Amino acid sequence: MPSKEIIDSSPVSDISGTIDIPGDKSISHRALLLGAMAEGETTANGFLNGEDCIATMEALTCLGVRFELKDTDLKVISRGIKNFIPPRKELDLGNSGTGMRLLMGILSSAPFSSKLTGDSSLLSRPMERIAKPLRMMGARIKTSNGRPPVEITGSSKLKAISYSLPVSSAQLKSAILLASLSSEGLTKVTSPGISRDHTERMLKAMGIKIDCSDTISLLGPQKIKPSKLNIPRDFSSASFFIVAGLIGSERGILIPKVNVNDTRIGLLEILNNMGANLQILNKKKIGSEYIADIFVRKSNLKGVKVDSSLVSLSIDELPILFIAAAYAKGVTEVMGASELRYKESDRLSAMSRGLEEVGVRNEERQDGIIIYGGPIKGGTVNSFGDHRVAMSFIIAGIKAEGNLSVYNTKSIDTSFPNFVDTACRLGLKVGKRVSSI
Ligand code: S3P
Repeated sequence: MPSKEIIDSSPVSDISGTIDIPGDKSISHRALLLGAMAEGETTANGFLNGEDCIATMEALTCLGVRFELKDTDLKVISRGIKNFIPPRKELDLGNSGTGMRLLMGILSSAPFSSKLTGDSSLLSRPMERIAKPLRMMGARIKTSNGRPPVEITGSSKLKAISYSLPVSSAQLKSAILLASLSSEGLTKVTSPGISRDHTERMLKAMGIKIDCSDTISLLGPQKIKPSKLNIPRDFSSASFFIVAGLIGSERGILIPKVNVNDTRIGLLEILNNMGANLQILNKKKIGSEYIADIFVRKSNLKGVKVDSSLVSLSIDELPILFIAAAYAKGVTEVMGASELRYKESDRLSAMSRGLEEVGVRNEERQDGIIIYGGPIKGGTVNSFGDHRVAMSFIIAGIKAEGNLSVYNTKSIDTSFPNFVDTACRLGLKVGKRVSSI
């Protein structure tokens, strides 16, 4: 009989403390993938040992790359992208959209065929937007009605392209840039808005000449050099406890050494506009990224209309922002966020249904949501197997009027394996159980 993991979250009077957040998921993926492209040994500290990264690591192992992982210290040992071996089985990326999409860019220049697959969530996500520019560069790619499995036959003669992204997507931008490293000529990428720039930063740190003006330009071919990398702590994972502190911590929560890359922290600007009591301390550069300590305290949040320019800068934090909005006084409106429909679940629909379930009035729109702040009653919520939806509703339980249970929570292990322990350390009343269905 199949079983489902459930996490119960009960109201608490106060939470406080200092917590360590795991390594950044996006940057950990890039350390694996760029390290695999380089010939030699690349090391990285602070690696996220979560299911998405492990799936990507296993896919790269099938291409002949070797890894050593001691706690959070990663070593990538590779003969370089030119010496990848044809995989003898399907490459299973599990739940990892980043793993699949960036690997498509890399495999575009590998002169053999590979089949990329994943779990039921990944099998429902759009891949044509990635396949299209890579085909223009010379790769042969077949998707299944626009989704995985993806069959890709690379070409050793890729050519540069000038490409205007239809959406501000870091995964799409990165796939093209990684393919451009093996192509002949100047590749240019423009985007309708800003998206996270970890790929560009890591490429520079690994010896690549890349111009990151409004149009990103990279003259190929270029060879990535094996390097020593630092992976900062994940702001997206920290965001759950930032909001937890704002709704439930009189004494405050300190979250040290978190990545505060400008392309990632749109949530802080939105929360500031909502009246959040938060401080960014000790900001400094480590390797190619900025880190800082974040301190938050209980605040009287008020609803806001979120500027659409902040959407791509807070894309993975919008589910937990919706919980902050539910606890705020007044109405919060987020529009221009249709990309949320293509994440690990349709996050607009999943969040709207969950909020409804716990008694928060909201209106789902094609590209956004309107949330009317008010009491959270408690109840039972389906996370639809989406880690960020699951963690958002667990945090929502802190000051709910009754117990809140979230089911389908196993996916939390993809990005934040010790989430429950971290929550308990702050005094949240959360517990896991397994039910057979
Ligand atoms: C990611 C980019 C974002 C984000 C995803 C990770 C990345 O997606 O939602 O979780 O690592 O590049 P987009 O490609 O839509 O920006």
